[in-house]
Amino acid sequence: MHAINQYQEFFVTYLNTQSIAREPQNLYNPITYILGLGGKRMRPVLTLMAVEVFDVDYKKALPAAMAVEVFHNFSLVHDDIMDEAPLRRGQVTVHEKWDLNTGILSGDAMLILAYQYFEQYEPAVFMQLAKLFSKTALEVCEGQQWDVDFETRNDVTIEEYLKMIEYKTAVLVAAAMKMGAIVAGTSEENANFIYEFGLNLGIAFQLQDDYLDAFGNPETFGKQVGGDIIENKKTYLYLKAMEFSSNEVQTELQDLFASNPEDNTDKIEAVKALFNSSGASKITQDAMQEYTFKAFDTLDKMNISKDKKEILRAFGENLMGRKV
Ligand code: IPE
Ligand code: IPE
Ligand code: MG
Ligand code: MG
Ligand code: MG
Repeated sequence: MHAINQYQEFFVTYLNTQSIAREPQNLYNPITYILGLGGKRMRPVLTLMAVEVFDVDYKKALPAAMAVEVFHNFSLVHDDIMDEAPLRRGQVTVHEKWDLNTGILSGDAMLILAYQYFEQYEPAVFMQLAKLFSKTALEVCEGQQWDVDFETRNDVTIEEYLKMIEYKTAVLVAAAMKMGAIVAGTSEENANFIYEFGLNLGIAFQLQDDYLDAFGNPETFGKQVGGDIIENKKTYLYLKAMEFSSNEVQTELQDLFASNPEDNTDKIEAVKALFNSSGASKITQDAMQEYTFKAFDTLDKMNISKDKKEILRAFGENLMGRKV
C-alpha cells in the first residue's frame, strides 16, 4: 500500500490525462472548471486504497475512482444551486460563474460521464459497479431531497437527520470503498465490511462538515461560512441546540431559523453563540468522534493485515482533525 498523499497524486495525475473538454464549450468548460478546482479528493483516494487493501494494484481502480469523483463533483454543482452557495473550494460556484441552466446541464453531463468510466471494466465487474452506483446515486438524491424538505420543517428528529446524512453523504463514501473491493474481486464479506467502514466514516465526515460550516475559518474554509445557518439547515448543531436549551432559547433559535434577512451577519453570529452556549458544538464534535470510532470497530473485525488497518485508521484520524 501507499501513503494517503501518494494516492492523491496518483489520482490527480490520472485525472490530468483525461481529455474531457470538447464542443460545446459552454457544456464542458464548467466540468473542467469544477474538476480542476481540486478539493480533498477523498472519495477516489478511498477507492484506490480499498483495492490495495485487497492486494490488487491501484491502477486497476483508477477509472472507478474517476467515476466516483466525477459523480461527487456533479452532486456539488447541483448542491450549490440548491443551497444558493456562492463559493466552492475558494472559487465562485458554477451557477454563479456561468448561470443556472449551465449548472443544471453540465451537472447532468457529469453524471453520464461518471457512468462511462465503468465501461472500461469487463462485463461482470461493470455490472456490479453500475448496480452499486445506481443504488448509491438514487440514495444521494433522496438524502438531498430530505435535506431541502427539512429546511422548512421544525419537527426534524435526530434519527431523521442521521438518515438524511447517511443518504446524502455517507453512502457515496461507502460505495467509493466498496468499488475498490469489487475491482479487486474480493469476497462479499470483505466488500460489506469495507462498505460499513466507509458508511460510518461518511457520517462522521458530514457531522464535521456541519460543524465547519458554522465554525470554519473563512480565510481557509473555501465555502461561505454560515451557509447552513442562512439556509436554515436542520443540522446536528441546530437539533442538539434545540434539545439542550430552555423554552425561551428554543423560541429564539426557532425565530432565527424562520427569518431570512437581507444581511445575515447578525443572524449567523447569534446562532453560533447559541450553538456554543447550549453545548451543541461540543456534542457535535463528540458525535463525530463516536462515528469515527464505530468505523474503527469495523476495521478490527476485518481479516486484513495490521499495517493495512493502520493506514485506514490514519485516514479516519486525519479526517477528524480536518479544517476544510
Ligand atoms: C463536500 O465534500 C460535500 C459533502 C458531502 C460534505 P468534500 O468536503 O469532500 O468536498 P471536496 O471535494 O473536498 O471539495
Ligand atoms: C452535500 O451536503 C451533500 C451532497 C453534495 C450530495 P452539503 O450541502 O452540506 O455540502 P457542502 O457543505 O455544500 O459541501
Ligand atoms: Mg451545500
Ligand atoms: Mg446541501
Ligand atoms: Mg455542508
